[in-house]
Amino acid sequence: MNRREIKPGIEWVGALDWHRQLFDELIPLPQGTSYNAYLVNGSEQTALLDTVDPAFRAVLLQRLEGVARLDYIVAHHAEQDHAGTIPDVLARFPQAQVLATPKGVQFLQELLAVPADRLQAVQDGETLALGGRTLRFLHLPWVHWPETMVSFLEEDRILFPCDLFGAHLATSDLWARDEAVVLAAARSYYAQILMPFATLIRKHMDKLAPLNPALIAPSHGPVYDRPALILDAYRRWSGGLVTNKVVLPQVSMHGSTALLVQRLIESLIARGVAVQPFDLAHLRLDQLSTALVDAATIVLAAPAVLGGMHPLAASVGALVDALKPPVKFAGYLGSYGWSRGQIGKTAELLPHLKVEVLEPVLCAGRPRAADLEAVDRLAAQIADKHAAAGLC
Ligand code: FEO
Repeated sequence: MNRREIKPGIEWVGALDWHRQLFDELIPLPQGTSYNAYLVNGSEQTALLDTVDPAFRAVLLQRLEGVARLDYIVAHHAEQDHAGTIPDVLARFPQAQVLATPKGVQFLQELLAVPADRLQAVQDGETLALGGRTLRFLHLPWVHWPETMVSFLEEDRILFPCDLFGAHLATSDLWARDEAVVLAAARSYYAQILMPFATLIRKHMDKLAPLNPALIAPSHGPVYDRPALILDAYRRWSGGLVTNKVVLPQVSMHGSTALLVQRLIESLIARGVAVQPFDLAHLRLDQLSTALVDAATIVLAAPAVLGGMHPLAASVGALVDALKPPVKFAGYLGSYGWSRGQIGKTAELLPHLKVEVLEPVLCAGRPRAADLEAVDRLAAQIADKHAAAGLC
């Protein structure tokens, strides 16, 4: 197995997972993913930055063949896709020590049974001299777990940010060459993994700014030799700026809620508001979450079922609430039969979003003219609020 050179003495030793379809049994991986690990050789010592998913332990160990001595494994993050092969590498290199944040040390013992005598905690700002090369460790908690940190290789000005700036993208390109494809994958990654921590991400970006890295080598996806590409994108995505757009997750059982949805779409378009509907029965979480990165409004459309909200709507509500997109307004459309039940209770569905809740449009059975006029009023209200926020 080849190692791929980033710079002389610095090599990619990761794994490409071309065909994985889901992460966490939740996040779609339409383009697979990669688990990046990097070998950094100093004149005196050698460090491995992260490992790979346990399914690829043989790949990593083969890439490390011929490495005579490994002194350190830097564990930026204890999640198994990066730390899961640490026990195997420790077995192969009995003198190696694992470096992590204090919380990372705790997690590696709890999750992977790494022996305490193979672990060393590093403090924020601490440096490690490898001989002609110096790694500086910076604690960046909640990217996207509480124990996370990044490394900066000072002489080469390479930032190793682990999941931050990552992209679920398996590609033979070591470098981010097809920028449109990489950015789309990175935006999807941000939306599903990091958007809930946008406020902290902005602070972390400020902390990293003085480093002015020449290269950014994340733990998923290709390496950036034009760091501004991903840094500028992250400033936009985490900045909370929204656009004149409505995201519309919808499900209908017998066509009544679908008529409300159809009317809302037409009415929004007529008022110059962009709209992206998503069919909840065939939802791609990556597509929905990516749309939510900069949508000003979400409108959920779902009927009542057995006196409650349609379970698909309740499920997507829980997901959206957890992802914490920067939406400003939230609405609801729905039809009901013999009982209105819980439908239309938007604030209860999205308790963690700081949104202005709009008056829901609910109708008994098939929508009548008055119901469709209420949908038009909702569309007009959304257009007015977007205009008042300067989004048009
Ligand atoms: Fe790529 Fe949070 O692990």
